[in-house]
Amino acid sequence: MSFEKYYEVFKAYSDIYSEEYKKRLETLEPLLLKHMPERGKVLDLACGVGGFSFLLEDLGFEVVGLDYSPSMIRKAREFARDKRSKVEFVEGDAKNLPFRENSFDYVLFIDSLVHFEPKELNQIFREIARVLKPGGRFILQFTDLRELLPVLMNGQVVGAEYWISRVLIDKDEKTVVIEFQSEEDTFRVRFNIWGKTAVELLAKLYFKEIHSEKINEHSYFQIYIPKSKSGLEAKPSHNELPVE
Ligand SMILES: C[S@@+](CC[C@H](N)C(=O)[O-])C[C@H]1O[C@@H](n2cnc3c(N)ncnc32)[C@H](O)[C@@H]1O
Repeated sequence: MSFEKYYEVFKAYSDIYSEEYKKRLETLEPLLLKHMPERGKVLDLACGVGGFSFLLEDLGFEVVGLDYSPSMIRKAREFARDKRSKVEFVEGDAKNLPFRENSFDYVLFIDSLVHFEPKELNQIFREIARVLKPGGRFILQFTDLRELLPVLMNGQVVGAEYWISRVLIDKDEKTVVIEFQSEEDTFRVRFNIWGKTAVELLAKLYFKEIHSEKINEHSYFQIYIPKSKSGLEAKPSHNELPVE
């Protein structure tokens, strides 16, 4: 059970030239343009294969993309070579960012919450607040999986070849295992269940919300700025990469 197969199968996350990926870019581009008024340095956190990094580079931002998965970073670098992009792609962990405090004007965190348990997301939010400049913006897009689950339980077709054959929610309703099936094979992925209220409560510890918008039935786009940074931990990590 892993995300590898899921990302391999669903081109919306693994092929920046696919229609599904382009649709995600087209949906978010106007919102990003509106809420990123000044050009500056961007961390595309959990960047995957880098589509949003390239979009922001094309719009004039200086972008670093970071992802935990070596294969995602490898693909992002291949796309970067193909596009003659200058985006720097770093393999790393969102829970322990290899950047100094106050390094970025924007941190983008798109469609990635399902990977993380509450304790992990807490660490990540703290790290985002640490690396953002005072007044910098944290841009979060996520799907409310709690709202979406009843829809998924109807055995929807998801993508061209796969349909959902089973949805197994744990008794605490913290995680869900979704089984995807095609004519050829079956695989399962465990997702962490995040609802909007829980995300907002956690974010409140570190950020002030300045914008919240529903972008389709179950997906949200939120903008935050770090609260006063004085009370936050700002420990430099030993494996820091300098960001000029
Ligand atoms: C659904 S993909 C989204 C990728 C990208 N933001 C996008 O919208 O195309 C989620 C990404 O989170 C990455 N990820 C999971 N755990 C991570 C961690 N601890 N640190 C950084 N990235 C992580 C995965 O490797 C995956 O590329």
